[in-house]
Amino acid sequence: KEEKSQTIQAIKSELQKQNAVLVAHYYVDGDIQDLAWETGGMVADSLEMARFGKNHPAQKLIVAGVKFMGESAKILSPEKTVLMPDLDATCSLDLGCPSDDFEKFCDAHPDREVVVYANTSAAVKARADWMVTSSCALAIAHHLHQQGKKILWAPDRHLGRYIQDQTGADMLLWEGHCIVHDEFKAIELETLKKKHPEALILVHPESPEHVVELADVVGSTSAMIKAVVEGTAQEYIVATDKGILHRMRQLAPGKTLIEAPTAGNSATCKSCAHCPWMAMNGLKGILHCLTHQSGEILIDSSISQDASRCIERMLKFTA
Ligand code: 13P
Ligand code: SF4
Repeated sequence: KEEKSQTIQAIKSELQKQNAVLVAHYYVDGDIQDLAWETGGMVADSLEMARFGKNHPAQKLIVAGVKFMGESAKILSPEKTVLMPDLDATCSLDLGCPSDDFEKFCDAHPDREVVVYANTSAAVKARADWMVTSSCALAIAHHLHQQGKKILWAPDRHLGRYIQDQTGADMLLWEGHCIVHDEFKAIELETLKKKHPEALILVHPESPEHVVELADVVGSTSAMIKAVVEGTAQEYIVATDKGILHRMRQLAPGKTLIEAPTAGNSATCKSCAHCPWMAMNGLKGILHCLTHQSGEILIDSSISQDASRCIERMLKFTA
């Protein structure tokens, strides 16, 4: 415990000394989230993380999340130094969409507007017309559909299918999935709901179709938190990474939060309701990257310039 508080103190002093700010995602360890708030940083969903990093005056961003989040921060602020505690913290969506295969997919469908999820590499974003996150995907797809555009969507097939259902847009889907959300199970969720008939079901749209169908609220991590804070219900069943419960408990201490059921349990299933890559972020790793200037995000400048167009477009659309 003493070692932990020493690490926290050392991080605070390095952040100040180096004019650096800590930006974290809701899925990382609660201690990191608390430290981000305490030091004037931010804990957010992936859209808000991108916007915060771009607008904050600090010259150095410490991103606690997964690699695509650090890359988005760097693409939007190439003049800033972006460090991450562990550059191996990736995402199954990013891994499942290699840029060369994606290029071929796009080349085969030149009549389609290319819309990619934030959870992709810089090289994939460089080929896209739009980047979206879960909090603005529906609005952007709706906008494109209204303009009569056909969409090529990558990489999350569940989110793609959900957007297609909601907007009626003509969408060609890449077959990627999130290993964490893919584990949520509809039958078990129905059984749980019977035990808690008053509970509201909150589902992240990276979850499978039958799980989304049972939801009272489908939305990004920020939207799910808002639903708990503003909802009149007492109980909530939460189908996303359990890291989010930390912030929900802080903002809605009197409410009961129940984890949605997954295929296995935490003893048998490594990715059950907790992203193994988000879990690679630790206090020691943050201190290490600050003291050694390690884990720096570096992106080829022409890829970065190309990728910035689709991200800036999203930020402008959602401003
Ligand atoms: P949000 O944009 O909703 O925070 O989602 C990011 C993510 O990786 C979910 O798995
Ligand atoms: Fe990627 Fe899923 Fe982890 Fe989010 S939870 S970073 S989508 S693997």
